[in-house]
Amino acid sequence: MFTQDQLKQQAAQAALDYVLPQLQPDSILGVGTGSTVDRFIDLLAAHRDAFQAAVSSSERSTRRLQAAGIAVLDLNDVPGTALYVDGADEIDHQLNMIKGGGGALTREKIVSSVADRFVCIVDDTKLVSQLGGFDLPIEVIPLAREAVAREIRQLGGLPRLRADFVTDNGNQILDVAGLDYQGDPAAFEALLNNIPGVVCCGLFAISGAHVALVAGQDGVSRLALQDD
Ligand code: A5P
Repeated sequence: MFTQDQLKQQAAQAALDYVLPQLQPDSILGVGTGSTVDRFIDLLAAHRDAFQAAVSSSERSTRRLQAAGIAVLDLNDVPGTALYVDGADEIDHQLNMIKGGGGALTREKIVSSVADRFVCIVDDTKLVSQLGGFDLPIEVIPLAREAVAREIRQLGGLPRLRADFVTDNGNQILDVAGLDYQGDPAAFEALLNNIPGVVCCGLFAISGAHVALVAGQDGVSRLALQDD
């Protein structure tokens, strides 16, 4: 029986195996944030000469990438990337995700948006038939926190301020329970995006993953909506 940590390691190894054949000396790789991605970065270190540099979705990943000897570029200097590798807090079979448990959701959504392909790496505890078991993180401008919270309550959600936490962008996070967005997660994401003061919500449904590498007791399975 593998532990969750061992499964994360297997997902990270699967990501390396997926990514390496696609890297060229001038490739820029998008890198997400979290404990699964930390393992991916550690594996990537031995292959740092196989690609040019990374763009990073958090200060945490930037530090780890640089410590591994991997150059990190400013996203403003990069027109796009072929691949973006990141974890998730939940992913469904349509490859919609909830992200932001580590608080890096905004930069994750931005950096993934310039990638041709989002490669999601998870252990199989994250694979769900319906999103919503994990409270939805929403990054808010501090000034707007209570105004946003009122709007969220109107939508049926129960927002809770993430204590003692400030994002890399200087903002706060509301973790929201009780929302029902099963019918159309992409429409719900757009609705949340339209609340003044919301910087970003942790629903990744308007643009989900392209491929998921899911590590379970029987090995790593690959989920994709199209042939991949
Ligand atoms: C970071 O803000 C998150 O979106 C992470 O990608 C997500 O929480 C997965 O993290 P773990 O790999 O640590 O479970």
